[in-house]
Formats: sequence, structure tokens, C-alpha cells
Amino acid sequence: MLKKNIFLFLIFSLVFASVYFFLNKDYKQKGIVQQVENQDNLPGGHFLLTSQDGGMFDSRSSDKIMLLYFGFTYCPDVCPTTLIKMADIIDRLGKDSEKINPIFITVDPERDTVKAISEYIGAFHEDIIGLTGTKSEIDKVAKDWGVYYEKQPIKGVDDYTVNHLDIIFLANSNGDFIDYFPPKIQSVLIVEKIRNIINK
Ligand code: NI
Repeated sequence: MLKKNIFLFLIFSLVFASVYFFLNKDYKQKGIVQQVENQDNLPGGHFLLTSQDGGMFDSRSSDKIMLLYFGFTYCPDVCPTTLIKMADIIDRLGKDSEKINPIFITVDPERDTVKAISEYIGAFHEDIIGLTGTKSEIDKVAKDWGVYYEKQPIKGVDDYTVNHLDIIFLANSNGDFIDYFPPKIQSVLIVEKIRNIINK
């Protein structure tokens, strides 16, 4: 009987912890969405970071619009899904994809070295620009773009994951916010939006 109670208690705790975690994450995600919808303190800004070929990427020196996503290479689910979507967007845009910079910025600079970023991004699409930097450089660009991220230790092992905002941003060549895309949006809709801007 006692064993059964302990078991039930453990199950309950696990469910509670998961629900709390997801609600909390969702709440933070909604925060940024609200901010954007109110047009209040919009995210945006230029950045100078290290790209996957080891050189520097300066958003100021490009006249292309940007598709921006913040994540990390060890991400088990949302990042791979988003990068597959980004690759699909590039392919669907065809020749028009030359007018955009699809960018992935790590929120885990500690593990995401140039080599790690290069191997990871290369697996999705050769046109995606993967960026890393020092912790303070990443903190700065994440803050400019209203991107929350939080290191979370994984229980029982000497490892961590990073909870992070799961939104794709669209920005103009000045680094100004144009739009954002929530996780479930289809790539065709993003392609349509990009085409509208390019063909204006
Ligand atoms: Ni991720």
C-alpha cells in the first residue's frame, strides 16, 4: 500500500512539473507575442556575430531581408522542426531566396562552437547562415530581439537543455522588425509574406 502511494505521488509530481514547465514556457512566449501585437517596444537590431565558416557576419553589411531564428544545436525538438521549415521556405522561394538571409543564432554559445554550428546547420540547408559568439554578444542580440532563453539542468546527468523562445522573426535589412511567425504556421504562408515584401 505504501509503495503504491509513493508511486502515485511520484507520478503526480512528474505530471505537475511537466504542466508547470509547459505553462511557464507558454506564458513567456505569449509575452513577446503581446508586445508585438501592441506594437510596443518592438524587437529588432543589428548584430555582428561569428558565422559557421569562422568569418564575421555583419547584418549591417547586407541589403537582404532576414528570416531570424534563435535556438541551439542540442535542441531535441523545436529547433530541428524550425530548421526543416526554413529549408523548405528557401526551396519554395527558389530564385527569390537570394533576396533573403535565413539566419540561425545560437542561444547556447558555450556548446555551439563554429564547428558545431557548421555541422548542424549544414545538415539542413547550405544557404542557412548559422551564427555564434561570446556569451555577452549572444545576450545582447537576444535582448534586442526580446528572446528569452534559460539554461536548465537535466536531472540525474551532468547535462543541460536550454528553454527558448520558439518564434521566427522577419526583419528588413535595417534590422527592423517586420513580422513574426508562431511555431505552427505553415511555410507556404511565410513564403507568401516574403514574396509580398520582395515584390513590392
Ligand atoms: Ni530549440
